[in-house]
Amino acid sequence: MTNPNEPAPTEGGIVAEVAHMTAEQRAEHDAEVAEAVAPDREIDVEVGETLLELRDVTLRFGGLTALDSVSFGIRRGEILGLIGPNGAGKTTCFNAMTGVYRPTSGQVLLEGKPLGKSSRHRITQLGIARTFQNIRLFGEMTALENVVVGADARAKTSVVGALLRLPRHHHEEQQAVDRAMALLEFVGIADRAADKAKNLPYGYQRRLEIARALATEPKLLCLDEPAAGFNPAEKEELMQLIRKIRADGYTVLLIEHDMKLVMGVTDRIVVLEFGKKIADGLPAEIRENPAVIAAYLGVPDDDVA
Ligand SMILES: Nc1ncnc2c1ncn2[C@@H]1O[C@H](COP(=O)(O)OP(=O)(O)OP(=O)(O)O)[C@@H](O)[C@H]1O
Ligand SMILES: [Mg+2]
Repeated sequence: MTNPNEPAPTEGGIVAEVAHMTAEQRAEHDAEVAEAVAPDREIDVEVGETLLELRDVTLRFGGLTALDSVSFGIRRGEILGLIGPNGAGKTTCFNAMTGVYRPTSGQVLLEGKPLGKSSRHRITQLGIARTFQNIRLFGEMTALENVVVGADARAKTSVVGALLRLPRHHHEEQQAVDRAMALLEFVGIADRAADKAKNLPYGYQRRLEIARALATEPKLLCLDEPAAGFNPAEKEELMQLIRKIRADGYTVLLIEHDMKLVMGVTDRIVVLEFGKKIADGLPAEIRENPAVIAAYLGVPDDDVA
């Protein structure tokens, strides 16, 4: 394990001694971090226009219809919540959007273009990134390396070479490492950059997954229950991070069971039940929607209200 008191492993990088900064220095530093986090994302649609659309998406596993003619859109700049009881089809939606499974029928469109048979890798390059309900990290790699590898999913030339000490693309590699470091700081875990992912506390691992997804410079970031297993204070911090991600220009699709978190952070909510969309509206509308309340019967009122 690394000594947490050791400085972060970057020379002249963006990670500085933030603890000793004045408020003004801190603001300037935050702006620098944000700049490094999102240097050159190109998005063809304006804020408020549809970025991603599911059009009549049906997905069957044998006899089971996991998604049944589901249609909804995500607008650029929005935080959209995707909720529904266990087994409703939320994760399957992510899988259909990211090329893990192909819709049995219907289409997923990004910036108006059908994803069709695009591979997972291609979809990452096109701009959809996700985290997983069950954390998937390279446990033996450091936090920093996990993020560099995430960035590599998008890069034209391999930055993994940097880790293998290959003598080419030095500049690009150094940039990738600096940016990965900035991302770790952005999600609040830069102090453990040099620790193996498997040795990080659970909350840090969840944040690391988010940093790794952001490293691909996505247009749309899909989070599958990022607050699962968090206590209320950690959930509050996560809400702040999600807001910060949106403020930085990303569009976010959030699967989350905790109603307080979903209602508190989303602009709009889509509700699935047994693979069908049963509601789509503002958080306040969803809270009052009888079909949604019925779907959540059995869930204590406190969680729905
Ligand atoms: N690969 C698969 N093969 C067969 N059935 C599957 C597969 N993946 C999901 N399912 C089924 O599809 C349905 C929807 O599952 P999904 O994981 O999308 O639900 P979810 O809304 O994410 O639920 P949870 O809140 O429990 O994560 C479930 O009945 C599930 O058992
Ligand atoms: Mg799920």
